[in-house]
Amino acid sequence: MTTQPPTVVMSRTSSTDVSDYPFQKPHFLSVHDLNEATARSLINRASDYANAIRDNVPIEPTLVGKHVVNLFFENSTRTLASFDMATQRLGGRVTNLPMETSSVKKGESLVDTLKTIDAMRPDVIVIRHGSAGAADIAAKTVDAHVINAGDGAREHPTQALLDAVTVTRTFGDVSGLTITICGDIKHSRVARSNIALLSMLGADVRLCAPPTLLPDDIRDQGLGVFTNLADALPGSDVIMALRVQTERMDHSVIPSTREYHQQYGLTLDRLAVLAPKAKIMHPGPMNRGVEIDGNVADHPTKSLILDQVENGVAARMAVLHALISQDGHQT
Ligand code: NCD
Repeated sequence: MTTQPPTVVMSRTSSTDVSDYPFQKPHFLSVHDLNEATARSLINRASDYANAIRDNVPIEPTLVGKHVVNLFFENSTRTLASFDMATQRLGGRVTNLPMETSSVKKGESLVDTLKTIDAMRPDVIVIRHGSAGAADIAAKTVDAHVINAGDGAREHPTQALLDAVTVTRTFGDVSGLTITICGDIKHSRVARSNIALLSMLGADVRLCAPPTLLPDDIRDQGLGVFTNLADALPGSDVIMALRVQTERMDHSVIPSTREYHQQYGLTLDRLAVLAPKAKIMHPGPMNRGVEIDGNVADHPTKSLILDQVENGVAARMAVLHALISQDGHQT
Protein backbone atom coordinates (compact mmCIF):
# COMPACT_ATOMS: atom_id res chain seq x y z
CA MET A 1 0.00 0.00 0.00
CA THR A 2 1.38 3.43 -0.91
CA THR A 3 1.08 6.22 1.59
CA GLN A 4 0.50 9.80 0.45
CA PRO A 5 3.11 12.33 1.61
CA PRO A 6 1.53 14.85 3.99
CA THR A 7 0.34 18.09 2.48
CA VAL A 8 2.30 20.92 4.03
CA VAL A 9 2.21 24.68 4.15
CA MET A 10 5.18 25.57 1.97
CA SER A 11 7.00 28.81 1.29
CA ARG A 12 5.25 30.77 -1.42
CA THR A 13 8.40 32.03 -3.12
CA SER A 14 12.11 31.43 -3.67
CA SER A 15 14.36 30.94 -0.66
CA THR A 16 15.91 34.41 -0.88
CA ASP A 17 12.59 36.22 -1.01
CA VAL A 18 11.45 38.58 1.74
CA SER A 19 8.59 36.14 2.43
CA ASP A 20 11.00 33.65 3.94
CA TYR A 21 13.03 36.07 6.05
CA PRO A 22 10.82 39.00 6.92
CA PHE A 23 12.81 40.10 9.97
CA GLN A 24 15.95 42.19 9.57
CA LYS A 25 16.84 41.49 13.20
CA PRO A 26 16.69 38.20 15.13
CA HIS A 27 13.85 39.56 17.27
CA PHE A 28 10.27 40.84 16.93
CA LEU A 29 10.00 43.69 19.42
CA SER A 30 7.88 46.26 17.62
CA VAL A 31 5.72 46.59 14.51
CA HIS A 32 8.43 49.04 13.39
CA ASP A 33 10.62 45.93 12.84
CA LEU A 34 8.41 45.34 9.76
CA ASN A 35 7.79 47.22 6.55
CA GLU A 36 4.73 46.84 4.35
CA ALA A 37 6.20 43.98 2.27
CA THR A 38 7.44 41.99 5.25
CA ALA A 39 4.18 42.54 7.15
CA ARG A 40 2.22 41.26 4.14
CA SER A 41 4.46 38.18 3.85
CA LEU A 42 3.75 37.32 7.51
CA ILE A 43 0.03 37.93 7.03
CA ASN A 44 -0.01 35.61 3.98
CA ARG A 45 1.83 32.85 5.80
CA ALA A 46 -0.43 33.23 8.85
CA SER A 47 -3.45 33.00 6.59
CA ASP A 48 -2.07 29.80 5.03
CA TYR A 49 -1.58 28.38 8.53
CA ALA A 50 -5.11 29.41 9.57
CA ASN A 51 -6.56 27.63 6.51
CA ALA A 52 -4.46 24.53 7.16
CA ILE A 53 -5.59 24.37 10.80
CA ARG A 54 -9.25 24.84 9.80
CA ASP A 55 -9.02 22.19 7.08
CA ASN A 56 -7.01 19.85 9.28
CA VAL A 57 -4.17 19.77 6.74
CA PRO A 58 -0.76 18.67 8.13
CA ILE A 59 1.67 21.55 8.56
CA GLU A 60 5.41 21.48 7.88
CA PRO A 61 6.88 21.15 11.42
CA THR A 62 9.57 23.82 11.15
CA LEU A 63 10.12 24.07 14.91
CA VAL A 64 11.12 20.44 15.51
CA GLY A 65 14.03 20.39 17.97
CA LYS A 66 13.37 24.01 18.96
CA HIS A 67 12.35 25.17 22.42
CA VAL A 68 10.22 28.24 23.16
CA VAL A 69 9.96 29.76 26.66
CA ASN A 70 6.95 31.93 27.43
CA LEU A 71 8.13 34.31 30.17
CA PHE A 72 5.01 36.16 31.27
CA PHE A 73 5.30 38.71 34.08
CA GLU A 74 1.70 39.88 33.47
CA ASN A 75 -1.52 37.91 33.27
CA SER A 76 -2.61 36.47 29.98
CA THR A 77 -5.10 33.98 28.63
CA ARG A 78 -5.15 34.14 24.84
CA THR A 79 -1.63 35.42 24.16
CA LEU A 80 0.04 32.80 26.37
CA ALA A 81 -2.17 29.93 25.16
CA SER A 82 -1.69 30.89 21.52
CA PHE A 83 2.12 31.07 21.71
CA ASP A 84 2.02 27.64 23.38
CA MET A 85 -0.27 26.16 20.71
CA ALA A 86 1.59 27.89 17.86
CA THR A 87 4.86 26.30 19.03
CA GLN A 88 3.30 22.86 19.31
CA ARG A 89 1.50 23.11 15.96
CA LEU A 90 4.95 23.65 14.39
CA GLY A 91 6.43 20.66 16.24
CA GLY A 92 8.40 22.64 18.84
CA ARG A 93 8.62 22.27 22.60
CA VAL A 94 7.38 24.89 25.02
CA THR A 95 7.91 25.90 28.64
CA ASN A 96 5.43 28.34 30.16
CA LEU A 97 6.63 30.51 33.02
CA PRO A 98 3.86 32.69 34.42
CA MET A 99 5.93 34.90 36.75
CA GLU A 100 4.35 36.60 39.75
CA THR A 101 4.88 40.31 39.16
CA SER A 102 5.41 40.80 42.90
CA SER A 103 8.34 38.39 43.01
CA VAL A 104 10.37 40.16 40.34
CA LYS A 105 11.65 43.72 40.64
CA LYS A 106 12.65 45.86 37.67
CA GLY A 107 16.24 46.33 36.55
CA GLU A 108 18.80 43.81 37.68
CA SER A 109 16.39 41.12 38.71
CA LEU A 110 14.73 41.14 35.27
CA VAL A 111 18.17 40.82 33.71
CA ASP A 112 19.07 38.05 36.15
CA THR A 113 15.88 36.16 35.31
CA LEU A 114 16.59 36.54 31.61
CA LYS A 115 20.19 35.34 31.99
CA THR A 116 19.00 32.36 34.02
CA ILE A 117 16.46 31.29 31.42
CA ASP A 118 18.90 31.94 28.56
CA ALA A 119 21.50 29.72 30.23
CA MET A 120 19.08 26.83 29.62
CA ARG A 121 19.55 27.46 25.87
CA PRO A 122 16.01 28.06 24.62
CA ASP A 123 15.70 29.08 20.96
CA VAL A 124 13.00 31.70 21.53
CA ILE A 125 11.96 33.72 24.59
CA VAL A 126 8.50 35.27 24.40
CA ILE A 127 8.28 38.00 27.03
CA ARG A 128 5.35 39.93 28.48
CA HIS A 129 6.20 42.55 31.09
CA GLY A 130 4.55 45.54 32.74
CA SER A 131 7.39 47.93 31.86
CA ALA A 132 7.85 49.56 28.47
CA GLY A 133 11.20 48.50 27.01
CA ALA A 134 11.41 45.15 28.84
CA ALA A 135 11.51 43.21 25.55
CA ASP A 136 14.34 45.42 24.29
CA ILE A 137 16.29 44.68 27.48
CA ALA A 138 15.66 40.97 26.86
CA ALA A 139 16.93 41.23 23.28
CA LYS A 140 20.14 42.87 24.51
CA THR A 141 20.60 40.28 27.28
CA VAL A 142 19.93 36.88 25.76
CA ASP A 143 21.17 34.78 22.83
CA ALA A 144 17.69 33.45 22.08
CA HIS A 145 15.29 35.13 19.68
CA VAL A 146 12.99 37.50 21.61
CA ILE A 147 9.34 38.15 20.83
CA ASN A 148 7.56 41.01 22.58
CA ALA A 149 4.20 39.77 23.86
CA GLY A 150 3.39 43.17 25.37
CA ASP A 151 5.63 45.65 27.22
CA GLY A 152 3.71 48.01 29.47
CA ALA A 153 1.62 50.45 27.47
CA ARG A 154 4.14 50.49 24.61
CA GLU A 155 3.79 47.67 22.05
CA HIS A 156 2.10 44.35 21.41
CA PRO A 157 3.25 43.58 17.87
CA THR A 158 1.86 40.05 17.50
CA GLN A 159 -1.60 41.32 18.52
CA ALA A 160 -1.44 43.94 15.76
CA LEU A 161 -0.32 41.23 13.34
CA LEU A 162 -3.21 38.91 14.23
CA ASP A 163 -5.61 41.85 13.92
CA ALA A 164 -4.22 42.62 10.45
CA VAL A 165 -4.58 38.92 9.55
CA THR A 166 -8.21 39.01 10.72
CA VAL A 167 -9.04 42.18 8.75
CA THR A 168 -7.28 40.81 5.65
CA ARG A 169 -9.13 37.48 5.82
CA THR A 170 -12.45 39.26 6.29
CA PHE A 171 -12.17 42.13 3.79
CA GLY A 172 -9.47 40.87 1.38
CA ASP A 173 -7.09 43.71 2.30
CA VAL A 174 -6.47 46.29 5.01
CA SER A 175 -5.74 49.01 2.47
CA GLY A 176 -8.56 51.48 1.89
CA LEU A 177 -10.54 50.55 5.01
CA THR A 178 -11.52 52.98 7.75
CA ILE A 179 -10.66 51.38 11.09
CA THR A 180 -11.81 53.14 14.25
CA ILE A 181 -10.09 52.27 17.52
CA CYS A 182 -12.32 53.14 20.49
CA GLY A 183 -11.58 53.28 24.18
CA ASP A 184 -8.56 53.52 26.42
CA ILE A 185 -6.00 54.39 23.77
CA LYS A 186 -3.67 56.12 26.22
CA HIS A 187 -2.84 52.94 28.15
CA SER A 188 -3.13 50.51 25.25
CA ARG A 189 -0.14 48.76 23.71
CA VAL A 190 -2.64 47.11 21.35
CA ALA A 191 -3.69 50.54 20.06
CA ARG A 192 -0.10 51.73 19.70
CA SER A 193 0.95 48.69 17.64
CA ASN A 194 -2.26 48.67 15.61
CA ILE A 195 -2.09 52.37 14.73
CA ALA A 196 1.38 51.83 13.27
CA LEU A 197 0.72 48.52 11.47
CA LEU A 198 -2.75 49.26 10.08
CA SER A 199 -1.56 52.68 8.84
CA MET A 200 1.49 51.02 7.23
CA LEU A 201 -0.90 48.63 5.42
CA GLY A 202 -2.95 51.53 4.02
CA ALA A 203 -5.89 51.82 6.44
CA ASP A 204 -7.37 55.14 7.44
CA VAL A 205 -7.11 54.82 11.24
CA ARG A 206 -9.45 56.84 13.45
CA LEU A 207 -9.29 57.10 17.22
CA CYS A 208 -12.21 57.71 19.55
CA ALA A 209 -11.85 58.18 23.31
CA PRO A 210 -12.61 60.58 26.14
CA PRO A 211 -9.91 63.32 26.17
CA THR A 212 -8.44 61.80 29.36
CA LEU A 213 -7.84 58.47 27.58
CA LEU A 214 -6.06 59.92 24.53
CA PRO A 215 -2.23 60.05 24.51
CA ASP A 216 -0.92 63.62 24.86
CA ASP A 217 0.90 63.64 21.50
CA ILE A 218 -1.83 61.92 19.47
CA ARG A 219 -2.98 64.96 17.52
CA ASP A 220 0.49 65.27 15.90
CA GLN A 221 0.14 61.92 14.12
CA GLY A 222 -2.23 62.95 11.35
CA LEU A 223 -4.99 60.54 12.42
CA GLY A 224 -8.70 61.33 12.73
CA VAL A 225 -9.21 61.92 16.47
CA PHE A 226 -12.75 61.98 17.93
CA THR A 227 -14.08 62.37 21.44
CA ASN A 228 -17.67 61.59 20.46
CA LEU A 229 -18.63 58.10 19.26
CA ALA A 230 -21.53 59.38 17.14
CA ASP A 231 -19.03 61.42 15.06
CA ALA A 232 -16.47 58.60 14.76
CA LEU A 233 -18.75 55.73 13.69
CA PRO A 234 -20.22 56.82 10.33
CA GLY A 235 -18.09 55.49 7.47
CA SER A 236 -16.13 53.06 9.66
CA ASP A 237 -15.56 49.56 8.24
CA VAL A 238 -14.16 48.19 11.49
CA ILE A 239 -14.64 49.28 15.09
CA MET A 240 -11.94 48.00 17.41
CA ALA A 241 -13.00 48.33 21.06
CA LEU A 242 -10.44 48.46 23.87
CA ARG A 243 -10.71 47.63 27.55
CA VAL A 244 -10.42 50.44 30.10
CA GLN A 245 -7.03 49.48 31.58
CA THR A 246 -7.51 50.54 35.19
CA GLU A 247 -4.35 48.68 36.23
CA ARG A 248 -2.24 51.18 34.23
CA MET A 249 -3.95 54.31 35.58
CA ASP A 250 -2.41 56.43 38.35
CA HIS A 251 -5.85 57.73 39.29
CA SER A 252 -9.35 57.44 37.95
CA VAL A 253 -9.66 59.22 34.60
CA ILE A 254 -13.26 58.24 33.92
CA PRO A 255 -16.13 59.25 36.22
CA SER A 256 -17.61 55.71 36.42
CA THR A 257 -17.89 52.62 34.25
CA ARG A 258 -21.65 53.30 33.96
CA GLU A 259 -21.07 56.77 32.52
CA TYR A 260 -18.31 55.42 30.31
CA HIS A 261 -20.73 52.86 28.88
CA GLN A 262 -23.35 55.57 28.33
CA GLN A 263 -20.96 57.63 26.23
CA TYR A 264 -18.53 55.16 24.68
CA GLY A 265 -20.02 51.68 25.04
CA LEU A 266 -20.63 49.79 21.79
CA THR A 267 -24.35 48.99 21.75
CA LEU A 268 -26.43 47.57 18.90
CA ASP A 269 -28.39 50.85 18.76
CA ARG A 270 -25.25 52.94 18.34
CA LEU A 271 -23.84 50.60 15.69
CA ALA A 272 -26.99 50.94 13.55
CA VAL A 273 -25.27 53.83 11.66
CA LEU A 274 -22.58 51.44 10.35
CA ALA A 275 -22.71 49.79 6.93
CA PRO A 276 -24.11 46.21 7.12
CA LYS A 277 -20.68 44.75 6.26
CA ALA A 278 -18.93 46.66 9.08
CA LYS A 279 -17.27 44.49 11.75
CA ILE A 280 -16.49 44.69 15.46
CA MET A 281 -13.16 43.65 16.97
CA HIS A 282 -11.79 43.50 20.51
CA PRO A 283 -8.40 42.10 21.59
CA GLY A 284 -9.86 40.75 24.86
CA PRO A 285 -10.23 40.50 27.73
CA MET A 286 -13.64 42.19 27.39
CA ASN A 287 -15.60 43.97 30.06
CA ARG A 288 -19.15 43.32 28.88
CA GLY A 289 -21.46 46.18 29.67
CA VAL A 290 -18.56 48.66 29.84
CA GLU A 291 -16.81 49.16 26.47
CA ILE A 292 -18.98 46.61 24.63
CA ASP A 293 -22.41 45.03 25.09
CA GLY A 294 -22.76 41.26 25.16
CA ASN A 295 -25.06 41.22 22.13
CA VAL A 296 -22.44 43.14 20.10
CA ALA A 297 -19.55 40.92 21.25
CA ASP A 298 -21.53 37.79 20.42
CA HIS A 299 -23.16 39.11 17.25
CA PRO A 300 -23.21 36.24 14.71
CA THR A 301 -22.26 38.33 11.65
CA LYS A 302 -20.72 41.56 12.99
CA SER A 303 -18.32 40.26 15.62
CA LEU A 304 -14.80 39.11 14.64
CA ILE A 305 -13.69 38.61 18.22
CA LEU A 306 -13.34 34.82 18.08
CA ASP A 307 -11.77 35.07 14.59
CA GLN A 308 -9.09 37.22 16.23
CA VAL A 309 -8.47 34.50 18.81
CA GLU A 310 -8.34 31.84 16.09
CA ASN A 311 -5.95 33.87 13.94
CA GLY A 312 -3.75 34.56 16.97
CA VAL A 313 -2.35 31.02 16.81
CA ALA A 314 -1.66 31.30 13.06
CA ALA A 315 -0.06 34.76 13.37
CA ARG A 316 2.26 33.55 16.12
CA MET A 317 3.13 30.47 14.06
CA ALA A 318 4.15 32.77 11.20
CA VAL A 319 6.37 34.84 13.51
CA LEU A 320 7.99 31.80 15.16
CA HIS A 321 8.58 30.17 11.78
CA ALA A 322 10.13 33.35 10.35
CA LEU A 323 12.52 33.90 13.27
CA ILE A 324 13.65 30.27 13.43
CA SER A 325 14.06 29.86 9.68
CA GLN A 326 16.28 32.92 9.39
CA ASP A 327 18.93 31.26 11.64
CA GLY A 328 22.00 30.91 9.45
CA HIS A 329 20.49 33.36 6.93
CA GLN A 330 21.21 36.64 8.73
CA THR A 331 21.52 39.60 6.38
C1 NCD B 1 -4.37 42.98 25.60
C2 NCD B 1 -3.06 43.16 26.32
O1 NCD B 1 -2.69 42.39 27.20
O2 NCD B 1 -2.37 44.10 25.96
N1 NCD B 1 -4.85 41.70 25.58
C3 NCD B 1 -4.34 40.76 24.73
O3 NCD B 1 -3.15 40.59 24.60
N2 NCD B 1 -5.21 40.04 24.00
C4 NCD B 1 -5.36 44.02 25.92
C5 NCD B 1 -5.81 44.22 27.33
O4 NCD B 1 -5.20 43.78 28.30
O5 NCD B 1 -6.82 44.92 27.49
